Amino acid sequence: MKENILIKADNIDGLTYLGDELKLKGAIDLVYIDPPFATNCDFTITENRASTISNSKKGEVAYTDRILGSEFIRFIRKRLELIKILLSDKGSIYLHTDYKIGHYMKVMMDEVFGIENFRNDITRVKCNPKNFKRTGYGNIKDMILFYSKGPRPIWHEPLEKYSDADLARLFPKTDKSGRRYTTVPIHAPGETNNPKKFKGLTPPSGRHWRTDVETLEQWDREGLIEWSPSGNPRKIVYASERAGKRVQDIWYQFKDPQYPVYPTEKNMDLIDRIVKTSSNRDSTVLDCFCGSGTTLKAAALNGRNWIGIDQSDFAVEATLKKLASAGIAPTDFKMIEL
Ligand SMILES: C[S@@+](CC[C@H](N)C(=O)[O-])C[C@H]1O[C@@H](n2cnc3c(N)ncnc32)[C@H](O)[C@@H]1O
Repeated sequence: MKENILIKADNIDGLTYLGDELKLKGAIDLVYIDPPFATNCDFTITENRASTISNSKKGEVAYTDRILGSEFIRFIRKRLELIKILLSDKGSIYLHTDYKIGHYMKVMMDEVFGIENFRNDITRVKCNPKNFKRTGYGNIKDMILFYSKGPRPIWHEPLEKYSDADLARLFPKTDKSGRRYTTVPIHAPGETNNPKKFKGLTPPSGRHWRTDVETLEQWDREGLIEWSPSGNPRKIVYASERAGKRVQDIWYQFKDPQYPVYPTEKNMDLIDRIVKTSSNRDSTVLDCFCGSGTTLKAAALNGRNWIGIDQSDFAVEATLKKLASAGIAPTDFKMIEL
């Protein structure tokens, strides 16, 4: 039986343990990690509120981010090589990073996972516009690098709801009962020989009917074809038939919590989308820089198994609280200290 596991350890030891002792090589379907970003800062935590202010004098240090430059790239690379061994053939990894170090990470990840497995560089808008007095443009985004282990990763197409503006733009017409719709051609590029006639019409030159003529006849009987005054037929597509629009690679709606319980805590809904899209219900999700356990909670709430690793006492404490807030008791998972 699969287990949920929280490991307090340096993640080199934790990842090695998962592979060698727990025999989980090739068993993890999804990894989300949000490691330090080589900021040369300490991140502190106070009694009631986490601080993301670098070098804050208040509170105790939850974690330090002092490994820099090429040493930092080597630090992450070692962990990614172990993660790759744990990933299943249909597995994916999302690495959260920033605009300063992210491009070096991209080049290194191309080497570890293969450029052919690079899927996206997702822009995550992390905060509202800022008015810092620095020479340069304000930075409101970070990046999430998404790779798969192989050519056919788990993928449950996420869809976004249409906004009112989208509906007005994409479905500009309304029928008698007020339903929004648009129309699309019933023919597509590419010629066929001797096409069948539909209502005495053949497709325009260089085009073919989108579907067989019997289906076109049926659409017409059901009132799903709109005829223009000049006799041009088009298929009616109702807004209500469409579940939503394809998600693009700029994500605006997942800003960080305003009052984090842990420094640099990430938005739960951000990870919820990743979990839903890139794992199955029987998948195991791993975060080996788990901080306050945001990934673990998102995985648990979606019915996935999860494994978290962090070396910080504060992180483990915050994770236990966050899991408890989702109704997950310490008896529901295995706690290991290496
Ligand atoms: C940016 S925070 C993660 C925040 C997390 N995504 C959240 O939502 O709370 C990075 C975490 O990585 C942990 N970490 C850094 N180096 C580590 C290592 N070598 N082994 C295990 N954990 C490490 C830190 O203790 C810290 O909690």
